[in-house]
Amino acid sequence: MLSKEQNELLTRIGPGTPMGQALRQVWVPALRSARLEVDGAPVRVRLFGENFVAFRDTNGKVGFLDEGCPHRGVSLALGRNEECGLRCIFHGWKINVEGQVVEIPSEPEGSNLASKVRVKHYPVREAGGLVWVWLGKGEETPQFPAFGFDKVPPENVVVRKSIVNANWVGLVEGLLDSSHVTSLHTAWLPHGEDAMTGPNAGMMGALSVNYEIHDRPYGYMANARRKMQDGSYVNRMTEYVLPFFCLIPSTVKNLHNVNIVMPIDDEHTDFWNINWDPTGPLTAAAIDKVLNLGQLSPNPDNIYEPRFEADERWGQDRELMKKDQHSVGFRALPIEDLAVTESQGAIVDRTKEHLGASDIAVIRMRRTLLDMVKVYQETGSLPMQKQPIDYPTIHPVHELLDRNGERIKFEVTI
Ligand code: FES
Ligand SMILES: [Fe+2]
Repeated sequence: MLSKEQNELLTRIGPGTPMGQALRQVWVPALRSARLEVDGAPVRVRLFGENFVAFRDTNGKVGFLDEGCPHRGVSLALGRNEECGLRCIFHGWKINVEGQVVEIPSEPEGSNLASKVRVKHYPVREAGGLVWVWLGKGEETPQFPAFGFDKVPPENVVVRKSIVNANWVGLVEGLLDSSHVTSLHTAWLPHGEDAMTGPNAGMMGALSVNYEIHDRPYGYMANARRKMQDGSYVNRMTEYVLPFFCLIPSTVKNLHNVNIVMPIDDEHTDFWNINWDPTGPLTAAAIDKVLNLGQLSPNPDNIYEPRFEADERWGQDRELMKKDQHSVGFRALPIEDLAVTESQGAIVDRTKEHLGASDIAVIRMRRTLLDMVKVYQETGSLPMQKQPIDYPTIHPVHELLDRNGERIKFEVTI
């Protein structure tokens, strides 16, 4: 449970808010690289409650600017993208990827107004098929979250995004809350004779969870331990990298993944899921599994399209629940997460909760984030940026141990 003030501090990320300022100090994914063609249509991007425009110029360089034209504020996303600049459709001012106004056709000859005007532009880089941007304050860009997707060819990577109508904190909580897996997602876990096979082996062995939290310089590792009746254990170790990166054990062979919870504004969130195979190109079966093809939209920029809303109970199918005792009535696992998250309300009222031992990872996450904001306000830098992070070595683990602590082997086949 949090006080009203703590909940506000944690959740509000708009311009000028303490959390918003701290989060802006991190490289963030903005949009898929493929959406920006050379001299193609600019794209409007909303992050942290502010609007921006992204475009790729004639030389292939990406520009990321405040959305409004510096003349009188018309959206540059409406502009023409031509000859190394975006030209506003209202009076024709032209701005390059550095945010410099390079031409003002409406001003008289000899005017030097153009040279005096700039639009705020932001550092970008492309990695893992995405355009990343840094919206922070200061001279130097921070370390890039190079988990490994940045080192492999495009055919080894698949990225999916969902747009969730909820505040970002609830999504991070869902990722770190391993205890819900054995209640909400039971339809997708191995049961009966298959209980000890596959990537989720042993998860149905015990419903209750004991957490062990291990502090890391970048956040923490939460090990959700489930003790089974025969004395063996399932350890499910999730890595939390401040402020919104979560690494969860993969369910696909050789696949690494990172989840990124990217606030659009206080009540909407882009939920990115980057998957990559360092050993080679992804198979069709792996892509199918990651994107939930056949069950979710093939649009990788929003897997929930078309979607059901709250008054339609997010499409929950009661017949399915009757037929399958493990089902909570949704056709795909991600929709289960969507429904529970959005049903908590856009911004969860954390003054009314009743938390228990199974919420330890969530409680620690909130505390870690509130501490992070405090450090940022006091020192102007984020605690996890004080020393370099060895991103490629951060790996979540799912392991089975017998009653003597010996590791039991299990296969992930797809
Ligand atoms: S508002 Fe953009 S050129 Fe006038
Ligand atoms: Fe979930």
